[in-house]
Amino acid sequence: MRSFLFPLALFVAFASAAAAQDRASDVQNAFGRAQHLKRGINASEWFAQTEDYSASRTDRYTDAADIALIARLGFDHVRLSIDAAPLEASLQALPGGGENSDFLARLDRAVDTMLGDGLSVLIDIHPSDDYKQRLRNGNDSVDRLAMLWRKLAAHYAGRDPERVFFEIMNEPEVSDPYRWAGLQARVAAAIRQAAPKHTIIATGAMWSDVQDLLALQSLADGNVIYNFHFYEPHEFTHQGATWGEPWWSYSHSIPYPATESSMQQLLKQVPDGANRYQLENYWLNHWDAGHIRALIDEAAEWGRENHVPLICDEFGAYREHTDPASRINWIRDVRTALEADGIGWTMWDYRGGFGVVRKEDGQPAQVDDDVVKALGLGRK
Ligand code: BGC
Repeated sequence: MRSFLFPLALFVAFASAAAAQDRASDVQNAFGRAQHLKRGINASEWFAQTEDYSASRTDRYTDAADIALIARLGFDHVRLSIDAAPLEASLQALPGGGENSDFLARLDRAVDTMLGDGLSVLIDIHPSDDYKQRLRNGNDSVDRLAMLWRKLAAHYAGRDPERVFFEIMNEPEVSDPYRWAGLQARVAAAIRQAAPKHTIIATGAMWSDVQDLLALQSLADGNVIYNFHFYEPHEFTHQGATWGEPWWSYSHSIPYPATESSMQQLLKQVPDGANRYQLENYWLNHWDAGHIRALIDEAAEWGRENHVPLICDEFGAYREHTDPASRINWIRDVRTALEADGIGWTMWDYRGGFGVVRKEDGQPAQVDDDVVKALGLGRK
């Protein structure tokens, strides 16, 4: 019996040593690829977050001139947000199918224009709330997401794996981190079957916050970059926003860094006591560059402990109701903290509510040079 078991044990030991070596080389690969994702911009509200996915809108909302501008400004990658529903429909469409059956062809054009301009592309599945709601419960919805990714990864498997990345899902909003861990591993395996070489972007369970990242266990797959989003403190970055906490829509002109001199006056913006208490905390927490750096350092530490590369692929401040100088200060402080920790970043967003440009559909973009400067970039 013993003589039979010994060679088996030897085989198992060799096999697991070889697997560990493969994983280590995949991790090295992911670290190398992360170098192509140092400074990016989110192309939002284009192929996601809208009701209208007609060609007449997507052709004008963001176009080849915008992509060329993004490259000229010094960004090295674009995170391309894609709504799961029209994508799924387009991947399944038979010739002559529904009105958005060319959705995928339009996406291909966007991806290839970006690659042609020297930009890397993050393919980000950015589903609507109801799609996420279904993922929280049934298992069919998980099968569907895995199937969607299997098809999408196969579709893009021929594009350069150095410059095309697959992000499993934007801000999953799954409150049970163990459900999300299982779901994420399942989808990563589906992507891996269809695209053996491409780097996957994974994230934490709820809003992709730093806390969600810290609670995550790294995947068995080594060719993965881990993502988090940074909007801290939301009282500042989401002032005036009509989504998220209802009271945010009342607030405006909150200074950053937080100075206590204007606190009393600003607190009057928020009628409800419980909400006012949260805004008061903004000052009491002394939000400044040091505070931001300390939080981002926690993410960096998690990356070091897990020996995995990181990216912060959303950060930004809503511009309509924010004091412009404070917004610039915040963008600069977050960007420099990320860079100090060697973490690539993707600002939210190109022309939406947090944008780096202002643009009317079909018109040339007007660049906000102060934001460009705060990002440490410049026009070429
Ligand atoms: C959401 C956007 C939102 C942004 C900032 C994104 O992940 O999809 O709708 O504007 O975060 O809150």
